[in-house]
Amino acid sequence: MIRTKEYTEGKTTFVSADVDHYSEDKQQPTSSLPVFMNPRMRVNRDFSVIFLHTYIRDNEIDLLCEPLAGSGVRTLRYLNEVPGNFQALMFDANPTAVEMAAKNIETLGFQDRCEAKKGDAKLLLISESRGKRFDYVDVDPFGSPAPFLNAAIQSLNPRNGLLALTATDMPALCGVWPDVAMRRYGGYSFRSPFSHEIAVRLLLGLAYRVAGLNDRSIRPLAVLSSEHFIRAWIGVKASRTESNVQASEIGFVYYCPSCMSTETVSLQDGPSTGGFNHQAESCSGSITTAGPLWIGSLYDRTMLEHAGESIKEFDWFHASVERLLAMMVEEEPLTDYIYTDIHALCDLHNVPPPKTELLKLMLVNLGFRVSRTHFKSTAIRTDAPKSEVVKLLKDYSQERA
Ligand SMILES: C[S@@+](CC[C@H](N)C(=O)[O-])C[C@H]1O[C@@H](n2cnc3c(N)ncnc32)[C@H](O)[C@@H]1O
Ligand SMILES: [Zn+2]
Repeated sequence: MIRTKEYTEGKTTFVSADVDHYSEDKQQPTSSLPVFMNPRMRVNRDFSVIFLHTYIRDNEIDLLCEPLAGSGVRTLRYLNEVPGNFQALMFDANPTAVEMAAKNIETLGFQDRCEAKKGDAKLLLISESRGKRFDYVDVDPFGSPAPFLNAAIQSLNPRNGLLALTATDMPALCGVWPDVAMRRYGGYSFRSPFSHEIAVRLLLGLAYRVAGLNDRSIRPLAVLSSEHFIRAWIGVKASRTESNVQASEIGFVYYCPSCMSTETVSLQDGPSTGGFNHQAESCSGSITTAGPLWIGSLYDRTMLEHAGESIKEFDWFHASVERLLAMMVEEEPLTDYIYTDIHALCDLHNVPPPKTELLKLMLVNLGFRVSRTHFKSTAIRTDAPKSEVVKLLKDYSQERA
């Protein structure tokens, strides 16, 4: 008998293994839980509910699938909180999880719309989608979604599908293990103050390639980054032509840790020929390289705007969701520019950091475009050269002295 507990998340009440009991002094749930469920993933699931709600406004969803479902909380929230009559399938390799998910389905009265099946996600994604392809596949694994990506893409409706990917293997994606990033995602990571953006772009880069080898193109609709996970919502459809065009969105991010300059270069343009902008900053620091990865846009403006409208209909989301969504809207037009962590830049130059809003204002007054970013509260995106930002920071520090 496992120890269970009733949880309520959003508008949905469900039962799972008692996380506090099994985690004991480990602070957070581990994969050794009899049924895995991480309450700290609530913001991830809140956004998943909002974006599905938003997506359904313009796209048909008849059948969705969560191939790594655990207790089933995510799909239960979709069924319970997103209007519509779509059907849902959940899979899990752990028989106790499937039993618990089935019990939750029954308690909430969704037997007619949802089923939980035991088995390997990769096999079930393929076999269970032969009769009717899935309109939405939500891959939320332990660690990396990479092993499930090919089956997930092949299981999607080729005309128009929504793919959501969570990754929690942050050490690989954020530069602690660059070789592991290359093995799993086909591109190197590096350590930097913007490592979570590199992480998101490596994940999208892999999604582009796996979609491409299945003759499909991708359209990033939204991304979410938090301390311990990243998440991407991606439109996928059968189009070799679009995928060919998108080849130019694969490239490298160059970074000089000595002056914190960054530059994004498409692989299509070949290796940089010495034009890296940090040289204009009179810096001779050596460059590190991340990629190949996705250098294209991270959001779809309409998706974010509609999500902003949808969210007003709900009052049960975590307090941070509205704030994060507002920042996504703000940064959407500027994702061509890798974000700059102002605190890290101030540390480098030994000056005190101004309030982000104040720095924004100073840059706008000089005619530059600038936004905050949901990735980091101390960071901005801007088209201003790094040298201009540094000059402002130094002037500000002198004025205060
Ligand atoms: C991170 S948990 C899922 C959490 C869930 N999506 C949620 O939002 O609460 C990952 C789940 O994948 C299951 N799993 C791991 N490898 C699997 C595989 N190859 N096939 C099916 N399920 C698998 C585990 O048993 C676990 O329940
Ligand atoms: Zn430099």
